[in-house]
Formats: sequence, structure tokens, C-alpha cells
Amino acid sequence: MKHFEIAVYGLGIMGSSLAKNLVGKGFSTALFGKSLEEKERFQTKGDFAIFPSEEEMVNALKRPRVIFMMVTAGKAVDEVIHTLVPLLEEGDILIDGGNSHFRDTQRRYHMLLKKGIEFLGVGVSGGERGALRGPSMMVGGSKKAWDSCGTILQKIAARIGDEYCCNYLDKEGAGHYVKMVHNGIEYAMIQLIADYYSVMKKGLGLSHSEIAELFAHWKNTELNSYLIEITAAVLAKKDEDGEPLVEKILDVAQQKGTGSWALEEAIAKGVYTPTICEAVFTRNFSQDVQLRKKGAQVLKATINVVQLEGYEEKLRNALYLSMIISYAQGIALIEKASREYGWEIDLPLAVSLWREGCIIRSELLKDIVKALKESGKNILLSQSFGDLEKGEKALRKISAKAIEAGIAVPTLLSVISYYDSCRTEKMNVNIVQGLRDCFGAHTYERTDKEGIFHTAWMEGEE
Ligand code: 6PG
Repeated sequence: MKHFEIAVYGLGIMGSSLAKNLVGKGFSTALFGKSLEEKERFQTKGDFAIFPSEEEMVNALKRPRVIFMMVTAGKAVDEVIHTLVPLLEEGDILIDGGNSHFRDTQRRYHMLLKKGIEFLGVGVSGGERGALRGPSMMVGGSKKAWDSCGTILQKIAARIGDEYCCNYLDKEGAGHYVKMVHNGIEYAMIQLIADYYSVMKKGLGLSHSEIAELFAHWKNTELNSYLIEITAAVLAKKDEDGEPLVEKILDVAQQKGTGSWALEEAIAKGVYTPTICEAVFTRNFSQDVQLRKKGAQVLKATINVVQLEGYEEKLRNALYLSMIISYAQGIALIEKASREYGWEIDLPLAVSLWREGCIIRSELLKDIVKALKESGKNILLSQSFGDLEKGEKALRKISAKAIEAGIAVPTLLSVISYYDSCRTEKMNVNIVQGLRDCFGAHTYERTDKEGIFHTAWMEGEE
């Protein structure tokens, strides 16, 4: 019996793309899929076989067996693990390449460890194209498994120069955590692009083709990134009648939930991520079509077109700073979580995995990795981006113009709030503390003396 190097379980879109990538890179690959249609559809040149049962697939693998599960996150992953475990032996490796919640990965990692199975939770980014040509892969879980099969994963991953965008981050759910934060940043950046589009279209009154041209131009500037590139493509696409297709897309956003997970984690860890927050809530709020419809009548949807001199440069500078700030929020979350979960995620390494293959890849990440290496965790305070003042001035101006125009651009406004919060040495929460003590005797600390204080604030109180 032939001994295959690796197996892929699940031949859906992502599974079959990843399997083709493996076969294409010369790995003999055993495959298993439940759907007959998916099995029939799978075609590629190279050394692979599709097995009719899980058992036959497992028995065809050389040891330690390596099985890459590409099944929908959630219950299905537990079911597949449940089926496979009795067929495996100590030291065999299971990899979950779906968008699993990191807490599920933690649980599975510990459960499988007890059974002697080495488990890797791998955040795979880049969609179908990425899985086929080289995704970014954020790996967490068993170090032993990584040492044994990491080179296979790196060979099918995206690369930047001779660096692989696939590496081991730490034990348990560290890989899926970083992928979750990647998605939080993805939500933030996508909504920022939409907010800037609103400023251009509704606020400045630019035509669709003027906006499409700007995004196309920005691909060749410091904004160069996958999301800007695909925005240019989406805006350029015409419907059969010659009209921009995007204008005909219903304005109700869907989501699979990973952005919300990132936000929930940010709240749990007390990390300020207002842009991720606004991006998640904008998608949620877009669902309430009736409210918006009525609101447009009752609250009078008048928009004032405004003038903005030198708008191209201002928009570009502001969007650049907005992107830095989106990354900054996500990175701060990874940093705090890594400490609290007892991981040692190397931040420059984690961020460097996003430089190719994934959805949030951008030219800017090169400087962010440099900033993290040079000045630690807060990239906004680093000098690596040169002068942020240009971006700040532009952002302030555009935010003010958006408010003046009367358009909703919550992520855009969250960015200037984040920036201003970061440079506020003395915050106003002394008032919060005073009020808490006044109504609830919650006590406060002072700037001029040590200790915990309570005051009788109201007349007649003791
Ligand atoms: C990736 C993406 C991907 C995600 C989609 C859809 O890195 O390839 O993050 O994993 O599932 O972007 O996400 P939503 O449906 O939540 O927008």
C-alpha cells in the first residue's frame, strides 16, 4: 500500500484548493470528502488519490500521519475529530485549517493531547485563490507537530522574498487567535474603504468613475494593498447595462462572525479597538432596513456637498493613517492576549505572516514589522512611518467635512478618536471617577496623594 505524505479531509472550495496546492508542490496527497459531487469535481495533475472511507485514507498515510482538516468551523470539526481519533495512533497529527474559534481550538488541543494526538490550529487566509496559490498561515498548537510537518505547510504558503508567510506562533489556540484578529482588522479596513467611498461620493460629490480612478491610482502609491486592489476592481466592474455593478448591490452586509469574535475578545481584554467595533456594528446595523428607511424620512436625509481643496492627497494621507491605526488596534489585542493566555507570540513574526497571501496584506506591513522590532508594541508611537502629521491633518479635515456633510462614516471617525485618545496625556475620566464616587461611593485615587478616597459630594451628606 502506498504511503501518502499528507491527507486533506474535506473537498469543499478551500479544501480542494489546498489539496491542489499540495499536489502541485509535489506532495503525495490522500483525499477524503463526503460529497460525491465534490469528489467528482476534484481534478488535478499529480500524485493523489481519493479514498472512499476515512479508514482507508488513514491507512494509506505514512507515519506520523498528517491530516489537514478543511471542514466548516464549528460542530463539523468535532465530528470529524471524533471519527478520526479511533483510527489514529500516538504521535499522529491533526490540523484544523478552518476559521475555528480559538477557544474551540484550545479545548481540542488539550483533549487531543491527552490522547497522544498532536493538534495544530491553523488560521488560513487568502480565500480560494490563496489556498490554491499560497495562503498566509498562522499556526498554533503542538510544537512537536510543527517541527514534524511545518516544512510541508511552509512549502504551500505564500512567500515574501524568501520568507514564508507561515509560521508557528505558540501553543493552544495562538494561531486561530491571530487569524481572528486578522479578520477583525479585515472588517475594519473594508468598512474604512466604504466610509472613504461615502466621503468621496456623497460628501464631495465625485462621480463613480472619478472614485474608481482614484482607487486604481492608489494601487501604485503607499496605499498599495490587496483590499485597495480589489476595491479598484469592484468599482470598475460594469453590469450588462454598462452601469457600475456595485451600485446595484443591496446595502445589507453579511458576516460569518469572526469580526464579532475579535470585538468580544477586545472587550474581554479591555483593549481599545473602536474601528473594529464600528465595522462590526455597521454590518449589524445595515440589517435594519426598515429603521433606516423611516429614519431617512423622519430625520430628514439631507446631505450637503462640501468642498475640499487638494482632496486626492488628503484622502490618500488620511486613508494611510487609518490603515496604520487599524493594524495598531489589532496588534495591541494580540499583544495583550498573548500575555494573558501565557503565550509568547512574537509580534513582528505574527505580523510578518500577513505580508503576503492574506486579505489584509499591504506594502505598509513592511514598516509595521520594522516598527514592532524597533519600538515595541505600539506602532503608532514608532517613528518608522515618518511624519504622521500629514495624515493627522488630513484625517481631521476629512472627518470634519464628513460631519459637515451629514454622512455616516463611523469607522472614519473612530480613527481620529483613537489617534486623539493616544495623544491625550490627561484624560477626562477624573469626572467619571468623581461621579461614580458621588452616586455610589465607589471611591477614587488622587493625583497629589497616595490612597483611596471617598468624599461627601452633596450638601447635607456625611
Ligand atoms: C480570509 C478571510 C476569510 C473570511 C471571509 C469572510 O482571511 O481569507 O478572512 O477567512 O471567512 O473574509 O468573512 P465574513 O463573511 O465574516 O465577512
